[in-house]
Amino acid sequence: MTDRYVAAIDQGTTSSRCIVFDQRGGIVSVDQLEHRQIFPKPGWVEHDATELWTKVCSVVAGALERAGLRPDQLSAIGITNQRETTLLWDRATGEPVHNAIVWQDTRTSALCTELGGDDGQDRFRDRTGLPLASYFAGPKVAWLLDNVPGLRRRAENGEIAFGTIDSWLIWNLTGGTDGGRHVTDVTNASRTMLMNLESLEWDQSVLDAMRVPAAVLPEIRSSSEVYGTAVGQLAGVPVASALGDQQAAVFGQTCYGVGEAKNTYGTGSFLLLNTGNRPVPSKNGLLTTMGYRLGDEPPVYCLEGSIAITGALVQWFRDQLGIIDDAAEIEALAASVEDNGGAYIVPAFSGLFAPYWRSDARGVVTGLTRYVTKAHLARAVLEATSWQTREVVDAMYQDSGVEITTLKVDGGMTANGLLMQHQADVLGVPVIRPVVAETTCLGAAYAAGLATGVWSSLDELRAHWRQDAEWTPRMDEQERAREYANWHKAVERSFGWER
Ligand code: G3P
Repeated sequence: MTDRYVAAIDQGTTSSRCIVFDQRGGIVSVDQLEHRQIFPKPGWVEHDATELWTKVCSVVAGALERAGLRPDQLSAIGITNQRETTLLWDRATGEPVHNAIVWQDTRTSALCTELGGDDGQDRFRDRTGLPLASYFAGPKVAWLLDNVPGLRRRAENGEIAFGTIDSWLIWNLTGGTDGGRHVTDVTNASRTMLMNLESLEWDQSVLDAMRVPAAVLPEIRSSSEVYGTAVGQLAGVPVASALGDQQAAVFGQTCYGVGEAKNTYGTGSFLLLNTGNRPVPSKNGLLTTMGYRLGDEPPVYCLEGSIAITGALVQWFRDQLGIIDDAAEIEALAASVEDNGGAYIVPAFSGLFAPYWRSDARGVVTGLTRYVTKAHLARAVLEATSWQTREVVDAMYQDSGVEITTLKVDGGMTANGLLMQHQADVLGVPVIRPVVAETTCLGAAYAAGLATGVWSSLDELRAHWRQDAEWTPRMDEQERAREYANWHKAVERSFGWER
């Protein structure tokens, strides 16, 4: 049997990657490049979409070269991406009309309050599964149409395309101005706040309320099907999957059964629980969102707890405070002390997401005494990740009645054993990490390989999953309760800040 290979592109918040996988789901090669973070004003975060596309092209070339493969040896290419990040481009020239507005950007907070009107934050929740928050794409589109001169008229005339980053990549990969496909998948569409979760089509009532013309929208497709054939450096390769990065991780972690959950630790952390073929409404600050849809099969839904800032807090500790030179150094610094010395950090840099959805929240450090050192603060940085995750797990239980008995984890921060131990301690359940911790790319590759016959079933993919490490809880009940109460006091103090 000749080996078959599938490549996955992961266009993330801080970098773009391409990973080539073999038929056993093993990694053959990786290439990765960071891109610029543009901060025009406090709370605003942008990316240059042309730079994203250029970096994606470079990492695809780099991964193929490292694998020693030609493009015609790839059976398929899959796409996964930072979600919600919003772009409008000119269909005729292929030029973005503005930088992409990144998911973390808070410029639409006031617009969201206005859109909520008397109905408040949950005005569109029954149709879209989401609370009105600056996180989602729809209000970002509305902002661009209102703030880029002349854009609304051009959009209404059909000259402008909207896309989350999956759409931008697929359009460019399949020919751009020369016949590029303007599509998105259900998972990415479910983060726009413009898609109806039941019909899986754009919801006209929400489009009207946000004044988004249908002429800008891509076609909504499944997460695993051939959208088109690539041109350029990947000429001839089927473009065969698209999933938002967190949903791709669900797929790569093989959470295919109801009640299976994963937590991915990246810039932020995102815990998703598979709830099966029906959307489960949340009353406890979670999102109802798509898990994945394979071709014509029934869609799979998830409940999601989105935490905006986890790994990004370590970056802030490194870049803005300069306490460490390299993110990996935080583990040794934190391990040099027994505990947090009484300090807690609530990283509400983009407000607080789940389960609070408070755009008036800002970061706070509490519990400072002269005893506190940079090592205690390093611990508080790591602990902020595990406590935020605990809050999301509690909300999951309240919404779904599903008690998580083990937590599958992945993403960069899972290399930090101290953090993973603390995570198991504060949840009171084992935390397990798979051998292939690159589950985001793996999920996109799996979905692309299923669409092109590289793999034939979910059971086949499940059989690839192997455990690498496990952390079991060691913290006693009283300590857990005391620390959790302190964390909540710190969270209370992050609310109510005006700009
Ligand atoms: O919803 C935002 C999320 O998709 C971003 O993920 O890994 O790029 O930080 P990441």
